[in-house]
Amino acid sequence: MHLQNFARFSLEPLMPRSALLAVIKASSALATQAAMVVLAGNFGLQAFAQNSAGMPGKAIVDKNCNLCHQVAQHAARGYTAEGWDTVLKMMTNQGLVASDEDKELARAYLIQTFPEKEKPKAVLIDGPVKVKFQTWHLPIAGSRPHDPLGARDGSIWYTAQMANVIGRIDPQTGSIRQYPLKKSHSGPHGLMEDKSGNIWYTANTGGQIGKLNPKTGENTEYPMPDASVTDPHSLAIDKQGDIWFTAQASNRLGRLNPKTGNITLLTPPSSNSRPYGIMMDSKGWIDYVAFGTNVVGQVNPKTLAIKEFHLPNPDTRPRRLVAAPDDTIWYADHTRGYLGHLDPKTGQVTEVPSPGGMKSAPYGMSWIDGVIWYSESGTQPGTVVRFDPQTQQFQTWAIPGGGNIVRNTSKTPDGNFLLASSLMNEITLVNIQH
Ligand code: HEC
Repeated sequence: MHLQNFARFSLEPLMPRSALLAVIKASSALATQAAMVVLAGNFGLQAFAQNSAGMPGKAIVDKNCNLCHQVAQHAARGYTAEGWDTVLKMMTNQGLVASDEDKELARAYLIQTFPEKEKPKAVLIDGPVKVKFQTWHLPIAGSRPHDPLGARDGSIWYTAQMANVIGRIDPQTGSIRQYPLKKSHSGPHGLMEDKSGNIWYTANTGGQIGKLNPKTGENTEYPMPDASVTDPHSLAIDKQGDIWFTAQASNRLGRLNPKTGNITLLTPPSSNSRPYGIMMDSKGWIDYVAFGTNVVGQVNPKTLAIKEFHLPNPDTRPRRLVAAPDDTIWYADHTRGYLGHLDPKTGQVTEVPSPGGMKSAPYGMSWIDGVIWYSESGTQPGTVVRFDPQTQQFQTWAIPGGGNIVRNTSKTPDGNFLLASSLMNEITLVNIQH
């Protein structure tokens, strides 16, 4: 797949972003003609549409899809016919308004115009560790599970980004309970559990942080204090119980005090840095990666000062991270296909190529008992990768069903690995035979 292209599309100043999110927020009836003109877009959809420009579906896509985002921005890597079906289900869940007939025409045009790009084959490496995969298919078609979460009571949670629900799986019985969220089309995305068992999430299109009380189903919403912060993305909870989050396109970091509901917003030094994955280290500092540039950042929670570490390769785009117990930081270099290791004390960086190669697109990662577990989202099929920092040995597995595509991972309290496969509409538990 053409990751370079994909990365370039997602890194460009894509926007009229403020206009774009204003449109998502307003009902479509409110979308002003001015916004339509801005969004109707000249961002290169034409470049991909050479053979299908005359198809009737093109006009429908131009009119109905480019309202919320440029289609080319998401479509560059292409989809199978089945994948486009899933995309149309997801977009319908998210608020796409079009008749079934129009969707059928759009589908034909999209299949013709944006076929799936070839992906590199997964590289499977044998090793000493045994795993067992257990998968749950989610109840709402096209729900786009984004983050999984292993809660302390043994339950497994997920955000259904396009279905606007948070789900809870009982792994013993396989039963799934869905908690609908108050704000419609809010795009639940990042997911964390606090010490009292509340489930916190970012509403990526709703522009807010949310809390779900699993006992009562009560949903509390915390809108951003600044309307220009439109897309809360990923979460971390610090030692005081404060909720930290990134806002990618808004280029912000934020801290929510759950006692007062106050939100403090911070701006990283690099513009358009697109803060993405975030996590607390053992000292209670907040570490994050900036997907729009080659930066790992660190926030001192007392002074709120942000320190940026510029990674050696300018093409590096770190997407997710884990902080090791020694407070060194491992990150997934999504664009170049590397696992990177930064020591914030010295600023020194080492890199290891991911087994699937430059286009393997390492993405969601977790630290489990001294070992890094992550997924390569760019290979066919997607993989689970185990990397032992002590021995520097890799072991990999193909995700049953292809895993297409794992956006985030988590670990369960008993040390197993969790995947959310966004297009497969599945949550997978990787039981590690310890
Ligand atoms: C109501 C707003 C809205 C409309 C209308 C809309 N989308 Fe989307 N689309 C979204 C959002 C939100 C995302 C998620 C973006 C993200 O997570 O980065 C998305 C993501 C996508 C993705 C990436 C999906 C993935 O998981 O791989 C594709 C492809 C896409 N849209 C295509 C389309 C097409 C084609 C249409 C028209 C048929 C359309 N969109 C209409 C809001 C919309």
